[in-house]
Order: sequence, then structure tokens, then C-alpha cells
Amino acid sequence: MDTTQTIFVTGGTGFLGGALVRRLSDDGYRVRVLARNPARAGYVRDLPGVEIIPGEMTEARSVISALRGCDRVFHVAAATNGSLAHQRHTNIEGTRCVVAAAAAQGIQRFVHVSTVAVYGYSRQGIITEADPMTPGDEPYSTTKAEAEKVVQQIADANRMPYSIIRPAMIYGPRSGMWTEKVFRLASLRPTPWIGDGSGSAYPIYVDDVVDLMCVLATHPAAVGETFNCAPDPSPTWRDYLGGYARLKGHQAWLGIPFGLVYPAARLIAALAPSQTELKEAAHVINMLRQSKTHSMAKARDQLGWSPQVALADGIARSAIWLHEIGRL
Ligand SMILES: NC(=O)c1ccc[n+]([C@@H]2O[C@H](COP(=O)([O-])OP(=O)(O)OC[C@H]3O[C@@H](n4cnc5c(N)ncnc54)[C@H](OP(=O)(O)O)[C@@H]3O)[C@@H](O)[C@H]2O)c1
Repeated sequence: MDTTQTIFVTGGTGFLGGALVRRLSDDGYRVRVLARNPARAGYVRDLPGVEIIPGEMTEARSVISALRGCDRVFHVAAATNGSLAHQRHTNIEGTRCVVAAAAAQGIQRFVHVSTVAVYGYSRQGIITEADPMTPGDEPYSTTKAEAEKVVQQIADANRMPYSIIRPAMIYGPRSGMWTEKVFRLASLRPTPWIGDGSGSAYPIYVDDVVDLMCVLATHPAAVGETFNCAPDPSPTWRDYLGGYARLKGHQAWLGIPFGLVYPAARLIAALAPSQTELKEAAHVINMLRQSKTHSMAKARDQLGWSPQVALADGIARSAIWLHEIGRL
């Protein structure tokens, strides 16, 4: 990218967006961050070249005016939980609003952040970008799958170059879920888990995700394409939790028998209202013992890109942050 360009980022107050904004600022870009709550922008506000623009991504007028004069867009913001109505509004209508404003502005590249959740929770084996989206019956995965279609439709209709990234479980400094919470669980001695931990986990270090996003913003072979961003091959849950447990000096494991938990999860799923997270409970529990890898062959072959941060290294870097926030 040409460093005279202005880059527009949604979700810059969040975990992934914050790491992206830091990287863009370090690389010398002007970065415009749309923030519905500017008070949450403390992590990026004072970085060189960064401007915080107050605004909701679901309000066309604020997005259009915030985008004026920008060259490239990273659409990172999303609702990752909440009701179906809330996630539809944010993930589908918010995306429609941002991508339509970008297309009207004649943006050079629109990078949309999706998720491997669009493949659903019941797939096994090797998953490639050529596989269909089968998000199941749960608000996050269904609305993120729909958002991808919105990006493709509007971008194609307006001939706006776009790329989509589907990250797996993003961990690293400032990750509430895949670092802070998982570390807390792994710290328990023994670490309780369902089964022996031999199923696949998919932790991808945040800097790797940011790096692939930056490649997608410029690479000619990324236009109109979708790319997984995941560890290939996947480590096991035992490797992942064990990596955090090692920081606390133990490897003790308490495997709760799968046969005790799975029937309860099936019952919960059967009784849960349609389009709620609980509807996927049995699939999620089952997933913990399955083997799958989100293939990185496409990024490697088309873009010459592969993840660079090995799990042990990513956990060591996360440990510095866990120490800083007083958890370790
Ligand atoms: N974390 C993962 O493991 C993971 C894995 C795969 C894909 N992803 C995708 O990565 C992206 C970022 O996730 P994350 O983990 O960084 O989430 P996060 O920390 O919760 O950040 C979400 C961001 O979206 C913003 N946002 C939500 N609704 C908005 C609205 N109506 N208007 C403007 N901004 C709004 C939030 O703003 P506030 O600060 O005001 O709340 C925040 O900046 C999402 O698209 C997610 O689907 C994440």
C-alpha cells in the first residue's frame, strides 16, 4: 500500500481492529477509525496518524461522511453475541451500510472480516474455501454468512475490488476469549475439559490475522476471493490448553467423559428456541472431539502467505500481556 493513503477501519475499538490499527499506524498510514463509542478507543487514539470518527456503522449518513476521502477499507466490526435481531442489525445491515458507502466512494479495496464459523460446527476433515457455507441455526454464524453475501453482491454490482478473510480462533494480547478466558480455565489444576483433548482447536495468533488482512488489502490475486486464516494443521485442545497450563507450571488434565455431557447437550439443543446459540450445543460439544483443519493451501498458493507464529511462540507473547494485566 502507498503510505499517503487513508485507511478506514470499523471495529478499531475492539481486539482485532485495535491490533490492525496499531499495525497500520506503525506502517505509516493515516487511519480513520469509526467508533460508536469513542471512549473505548483508548488503545489506538494517540497513535500517529490515527483519527477517531464518532459514528454507528448502521447509520448510513455517518458512515458515508466518515468514509469520504479514504482509499481502502477494513470492515472488522461485528456483534459476536446477542439476539438474532441484534446480530442481524449489526452484522448484516451494518455491513450493507459500510459496503454500500465504500462502493459509492470508489474504494480501491474492501477487506471484510468474516469467520470460519460460516462453515458450521459439524464439519470434519480438511475444510477449504471452496466448501459451501453451512452455518447451521445460530445467530453469529448465520448472520456472518449472510454478511459475506452482502459484501459480494454490492461489491460485484459496483465493481469494487474486495477480499474476505475467515479467521479461526484469534488469540493473543487483548483477546478476552481465546487468551484471557482460556488461560483462566487452563490455570485450574487439573484443567477440566470434555474428553481427552485430542480433538482439534484452531488458535491463530492475532498478528498473523492482521498480516494476512494487510496482504488482502493490496494483493492482485486476492480480489474477489475468500481466504481462511487458521493453523494448518490444527493443534489439539490438549496442545492449546496445555500451552497455557504450562505457564502455571502444570499439565494436569481432568477429562470429563464425553458420554456424560453429550446427551445433556442434545436435550438442550432440542428444547432451545430456533436461532439461538443453544441450538448448536450438541454440535459444539461434538466438535470438541473431532479432527478438522481449515486449509491454508489457497493463501499459500495464491498469495505466497502462511501463518508465521507457532503456538508456543504465540502463547509466550500472550504471557507477557497476561503478566501486564496481572493474570500471571
Ligand atoms: N475474536 C475471534 O476469535 C474472531 C474469530 C473469527 C472472526 N472474528 C471476527 O473478527 C472481527 C472482530 O472481532 P473481535 O474479536 O475483535 O471483536 P470485539 O473485540 O468484540 O470488537 C468488535 C468491534 O465491533 C464494534 N462494533 C460492534 N457493533 C458496532 C456498531 N453497531 N457500530 C460500530 N462499531 C460496532 C465494537 O465497538 P465497541 O468497542 O463500541 O463495542 C468493536 O470495536 C469480527 O468481525 C468477528 O466476527 C473474530
